[in-house]
Amino acid sequence: MNKEIIKIFDTTLRDGEQSPGASMNTEEKIQIAAQLERLRVDIIEAGFAAASPGDFDAIDKIAQRVTNSTVCSLARALDKDIKAAGEAIAKAKHQRIHTFIATSPIHMEHKLKMKPDEVIRRAVDAVSYARTFVEDVEFSCEDAGRSDIGFMKEISDAVIEAGATTINLPDTVGFRLPFEIGAMVKEMSEYVKGRAIISVHNHNDLGLGVANSLEAIVNGARQVECTINGLGERAGNAALEEIVMALKVRSDVFGDYTTNINTKEIYPTSRLIATITGIEPQPNKAIVGKNAFAHESGIHQDGVLKHKETYEIIRPEDIGLSKDDTLVLGKHSGRAAFKDKLAKLGFSLDDEALNASFERFKILADRKKEIYDDDIRALVTNEMTKATQIYEIVSLQLMDCSEGVPSAAVRIKKEGEEIMDASIGGGTIDAVFKTIDRITGYNGSLEGYNVKSVSEGKDALANVTVKVSFDGEPAVIGHGLHLDTMLASARAYIGALNSYLSMEGKLKSRHCDSSQTV
Ligand code: KIV
Ligand code: ZN
Repeated sequence: MNKEIIKIFDTTLRDGEQSPGASMNTEEKIQIAAQLERLRVDIIEAGFAAASPGDFDAIDKIAQRVTNSTVCSLARALDKDIKAAGEAIAKAKHQRIHTFIATSPIHMEHKLKMKPDEVIRRAVDAVSYARTFVEDVEFSCEDAGRSDIGFMKEISDAVIEAGATTINLPDTVGFRLPFEIGAMVKEMSEYVKGRAIISVHNHNDLGLGVANSLEAIVNGARQVECTINGLGERAGNAALEEIVMALKVRSDVFGDYTTNINTKEIYPTSRLIATITGIEPQPNKAIVGKNAFAHESGIHQDGVLKHKETYEIIRPEDIGLSKDDTLVLGKHSGRAAFKDKLAKLGFSLDDEALNASFERFKILADRKKEIYDDDIRALVTNEMTKATQIYEIVSLQLMDCSEGVPSAAVRIKKEGEEIMDASIGGGTIDAVFKTIDRITGYNGSLEGYNVKSVSEGKDALANVTVKVSFDGEPAVIGHGLHLDTMLASARAYIGALNSYLSMEGKLKSRHCDSSQTV
């Protein structure tokens, strides 16, 4: 029997990026898009082109890199958004514009302040304009979960007539229960049958995003929008890995449906995104949480040893979780072993990146006793995704912070020249960041700071993520990795500055007078 393909529309780079603290830089987004393509998602929503020049740039670069998956940009139902979306995806082999407007009474009245017929006109104009750029246009009835179904039929008729090929019904506020989503999707998919496909986009405010998506599938949805690790606005979106594995593991129930996903890439994708965003899935998270395959109780361990299926419904290898995800390499490991390990972890690096990563691995191996897969993932990801290194931290020295005033001396390299300066601060990190500002001449305001240990042990690598706004402009993200948390913080801050400068071509020489060239 021919199974129906459920299209997987991944919005990790758009709705997922709306998770507080999950912003990513362009290089990071490109690496994620490449991994999503390896995962074989059908559509990658690469961002919201009109949101900022950085978003536009990332979508444009992803469009040039991705060949198999469709590359999509979100756009409000406004000409300027649609133009930006159309231009940002123009170089993609397969292109889609996703435009939306709210259709629920509460959104139309209080947010849009528009009458229903104006909303329909705006939607039709948006879809018609989008069709001048691409053939594949998706239209979303924002807040469909709280919209009137009669109105959604009316607007769907109009936008399909204008050229929309997918009608998405987002449960924007995660309000609906599975049986309600099922009924809505059934009615809408029967209504648009043969004219468009119905898609769903379920938020997780009541923890029902995945259940609602599965219910939508059995009731006629042929596309589901979802994110890796369930990232997304507020409580997040339906998790891609949960939907896909539920369809696979329960093929006795969902036997009529399948996806194009290569499930062996699920775990590597989840790790890549956790490493880049610094947002770890909760340990008991289904499919990809640290404990998802850990058996704690003696009875369970005994059962699994006797026969795996006593307590395991999913084989770890089916999601690409290797059994030797423990101690891996050490300081005596050579390049070949390192390269082999990278291949097992799903990285394929060119010679230059491989050499740089191997060098960093050797330095780490000299100082850290046990190196885990997560250390290697963090190290390589950090190497691959860093922006052009305009500034580089050479050394950092901290002065008495127990009794005296916290102060820091930092040495930075720029274009082969080393500059050193020192300053005091309210705390040690403040002192480090202030010194960097003094040396570079940029004025950073710290909007977020997060530190995570990458693996186990007292000698674990610290992965620091900072969100910094320079000179009052929109904040950028920087990551820093080091055994020393303060050095990792300094690297993260400089990483954010490098991102800011390379993104906008803003480099200006602004060393302040007090800094010393050495
Ligand atoms: O949740 C939502 O309604 C959205 C739309 C823009 C699709 O993210
Ligand atoms: Zn959403």
